[in-house]
Amino acid sequence: MVENAARPVKAVIRNVSKVYRGRTDVPALDTVDAVVYEGEFLTIVGPSGCGKSTLLRMLDGLQRPSEGAVEITKASSDRPLTSMVFQDYSVYPWMSVFDNVALGLARSTLSKAEKAERVREWLDRMDLGKFESAYPMELSGGMLQRVAIARALVAEPEILLMDEPFAALDAQLRRRLQEELLEIVGNTGRTVVFVTHSLEEAILLGDRILVMSARPGRIVDSVDVPFPRPRDPELRTSPGFRDLEERLWTILKDHADHRV
Ligand SMILES: Nc1ncnc2c1ncn2[C@@H]1O[C@H](COP(=O)(O)OP(=O)(O)OP(=O)(O)O)[C@@H](O)[C@H]1O
Ligand SMILES: [Mg+2]
Repeated sequence: MVENAARPVKAVIRNVSKVYRGRTDVPALDTVDAVVYEGEFLTIVGPSGCGKSTLLRMLDGLQRPSEGAVEITKASSDRPLTSMVFQDYSVYPWMSVFDNVALGLARSTLSKAEKAERVREWLDRMDLGKFESAYPMELSGGMLQRVAIARALVAEPEILLMDEPFAALDAQLRRRLQEELLEIVGNTGRTVVFVTHSLEEAILLGDRILVMSARPGRIVDSVDVPFPRPRDPELRTSPGFRDLEERLWTILKDHADHRV
């Protein structure tokens, strides 16, 4: 993949391959080369099982490549390098909403009062202000996912990793959270890597889209999203948006099974 030399690079994925060893070996990623630029909202699309989550887990340091390397430039000593929002609302059922979000600041050097203030600020932004004392079992799926998002964002990670965070939500809620995310991170120059199955979501949220092939996943294209920010969700209905969706769909189809 050709790097844009003029842009500061936040993370480099260099010739990364991953094989899951077992009774039968599963090659999940095949020589993936990619960069994440500082401050960009990068979305990743690709067929089911092509290694998208594997790639995110490597960026999060949860997994290591079988070959190649993932390098991230650390800029700050008091912000976590990465934090991840998983698909399945990973919140702790025995902790209150407040405590679940405060976990994001577990390693922070802020005072207790400053932490509480930050947690409440994010609870408010996520429309959870009234639920800080509630427990996860009292909340809907959408609210749980907002708790998980607040926990990731409160930490102000250098890279925010999101693995199909809205996939399990109903269409209406998904739209609402997309719009909230557009407002919250879309305009703040945060570095975000966001995996999705939805081309529409990838275009609406992303500055750039990496398209992956079927397993073992490779990066087959990097497509710039030309729409300026702030973005209006109405953008979805514009002809340019639909044209780009069609173009991505064609790239995906062409690489649906690159082993053939
Ligand atoms: N821990 C593991 N052990 C063995 N195989 C695994 C493991 N994790 C993932 N795989 C396999 O590696 C391949 C890539 O998995 P991964 O979850 O990264 O894909 P994905 O693109 O995120 O899929 P999806 O779109 O369904 O979320 C799949 O075939 C999967 O079954
Ligand atoms: Mg996945």
